[in-house]
Amino acid sequence: MQFYDIIAKKRDGDALTNEEIEQFVQDAAQGSVPDYQLSALLMAIYLRGMTDGETARLTQALARSGDTVDLSSIPGVKVDKHSTGGVGDKTTLIVAPLVAACDVPVAKMSGRGLGHTGGTIDKLESIPSFQTELEGQAFLRQVREIGLALAGQSGNLAPADKKLYALRDVTATVGSLPLIASSIMSKKLAAGSDAILLDVKTGSGALLPSFEDALALAGQMVAIGRANGKQTSALITGMDTPLGRAIGNSLEVAEAVEVLRGGGPEDLRTVCLALAADMLQLAGKGDPGACLSLAETALSDGRALAKLRAVVAAQNGDVRYIDEPSRFPAAPHKEVLYAEQEGYITRMQAQEIGAASVLLGAGRRRKEDSVDPAAGLLLHKKTGDYVRKGDALATLHCQARAMAAEAADRMRAAVCYSDTKPAPTPLIYARVNKDGTLSYLKET
Ligand code: URA
Repeated sequence: MQFYDIIAKKRDGDALTNEEIEQFVQDAAQGSVPDYQLSALLMAIYLRGMTDGETARLTQALARSGDTVDLSSIPGVKVDKHSTGGVGDKTTLIVAPLVAACDVPVAKMSGRGLGHTGGTIDKLESIPSFQTELEGQAFLRQVREIGLALAGQSGNLAPADKKLYALRDVTATVGSLPLIASSIMSKKLAAGSDAILLDVKTGSGALLPSFEDALALAGQMVAIGRANGKQTSALITGMDTPLGRAIGNSLEVAEAVEVLRGGGPEDLRTVCLALAADMLQLAGKGDPGACLSLAETALSDGRALAKLRAVVAAQNGDVRYIDEPSRFPAAPHKEVLYAEQEGYITRMQAQEIGAASVLLGAGRRRKEDSVDPAAGLLLHKKTGDYVRKGDALATLHCQARAMAAEAADRMRAAVCYSDTKPAPTPLIYARVNKDGTLSYLKET
């Protein structure tokens, strides 16, 4: 079939056959179709959607488009985690060492920041000399020896997804449920773990802001994981407000270390413990209560922090920055933003705050940009806090005063006030388990 006919079929709302999906993914991986035709097909999928069957087939075709990782030489149930992306989301830096400290191997491949959302690899690279590129055998050896590796996606893992993702990023086709589900799950299947925990974000800072969409995305990814023989579950967590108080690469590493030392913001700690407990449950470590208490113990007795330190040392990073995060170079320009009125903060829109952090240099505006490890924001107040006019809301960190003006405007516009205290928003909305059901809704 001509590529033109595949585009036309999807444009008209018809389901693609397995052969058509295989063909388009192969063409994407081999570069044998021009970007304008691939982009047209992506837009047709964005507008017309895909059936569950098409999405499952697309996931498998993307996963098979390149190398797959074989973790079978590592004993135990290997558990992976993936977040759909958020602002201030440094959970991997805390959860992966926490789970590995409970003797569950974690072979984690992470990504860089995307749009207004941050990425684990950019955060890790703010630790001087930390190596995020680990070649196959070194990656496996490290997981075998210390139970944890935190690396960038290996060069040829799901290359068709890499191609499609780069096009989606610049053609306004990121926020599509079948495209997100297949993109994430193809990489998780290719990365070889036995079990997968998905952290699906909901709220203004999420790729799919509505709770209904988050629930549908979670259900679909859990079904795909299980159909491919992987224990898979999902937590739906809030991303209306940034997680924790730090947004920006080295600022977030420092905050993650604070949590691993037993302190840090309560929202971040709560979400991390819930994610870790669910990963331990997937690894067969016991019922939810037992797994939560395993995670709490590994956090409070310092084993999780020791595991992060071991990973940083193994990947050639300078562990003095973990021992003393105050060593991270401070940004040359710091600017405090003050509350413009008195009242309760009813909203701090994560997407706008993420966009402000990008303007400060913590993320990329174009693919080829580099990130400034010291740039970002520290929030002094969060949703639900009462402020008086002139109270410090946040401190912006960047290279020069001129960079702060636009970010400050975005940040101010992200904050809403009221005389009435807002109802608390949930941190953890729901768990989607093997039956695709919502098992709880938690107020925090
Ligand atoms: N993360 C991915 O890897 N892919 C998406 O499509 C969205 C988030």
